[in-house]
Amino acid sequence: MSKPIVEVRNLTKRFDDFTAVDDVSFDIQEGEILGLLGPNGAGKTTTIHMLLGLITPTSGTIHMFGLDLAQHRETILRQVNFSSTYISMPFSLTVEENLKVIARLYSLQNIQKRIDEIIEKLEMGDIQYKLTRKLSSGQMSRLTLAKAIMTEPKVLFLDEPTASLDPDIVNKIKIFLKEYQRTAGLSILYTSHNMREMEEMSNRIIFLQHGHIVAEGTSDQIIQRYGQRDLEEVFLKLARESKEK
Ligand SMILES: Nc1ncnc2c1ncn2[C@@H]1O[C@H](COP(=O)(O)OP(=O)(O)OP(=O)(O)O)[C@@H](O)[C@H]1O
Ligand SMILES: [Mg+2]
Repeated sequence: MSKPIVEVRNLTKRFDDFTAVDDVSFDIQEGEILGLLGPNGAGKTTTIHMLLGLITPTSGTIHMFGLDLAQHRETILRQVNFSSTYISMPFSLTVEENLKVIARLYSLQNIQKRIDEIIEKLEMGDIQYKLTRKLSSGQMSRLTLAKAIMTEPKVLFLDEPTASLDPDIVNKIKIFLKEYQRTAGLSILYTSHNMREMEEMSNRIIFLQHGHIVAEGTSDQIIQRYGQRDLEEVFLKLARESKEK
């Protein structure tokens, strides 16, 4: 871990008079998994959407690979991908057809080999030829993750990627992502409401509350700072304080 691959400075997003993300600054180092934690409505998805160029910040800057996202959108976004439980994909295509569309959009080589590898790694063999509209929510999550990984991004934004997955597949995906992070030097920004998963996955955690960063560090540092037993207790403490405000 040497230089930051993502640099966010004073990022703010207002929707009319409501401030969803408020003066947020952080870095993601090369090869780092950064966990973005916070109660419902804290501003996690809004932050990720700004990092993906889907919505424009009200103020602040985002640099990736040393380039300003506002000026080098296309160059940056080719090296970035994301997965969310809540994205939708063309429903009338099969799983494999959807992956082929993505592969062609990104001009990938050896498409069939790459698809077969991903399908094997994410254990999607049983749904390879299934229509996307017939997938269960967990199967859909795996497809969106496969789509994101297939383009070999340098930075991956994962917004609750494991929200509807069973514990067995969550475990496999954790192992897969860790391995992929190690071998490909991938950087990941990750959100989840599962605290154990957050502790196991993240090298570092940022805790957002009402759009502000209220805690930052390794999970051990955060647990110690708040004098709690684990991250779940820290979360409950901060989330309850947040509701009282
Ligand atoms: N397009 C929008 N217009 C107005 N308000 C919005 C818009 N998008 C998000 N918000 C508000 O911004 C706040 C932050 O939302 P965001 O989706 O970023 O939260 P989150 O941390 O991802 O929460 P969750 O854990 O529920 O996914 C919420 O209060 C939400 O209602
Ligand atoms: Mg969200």
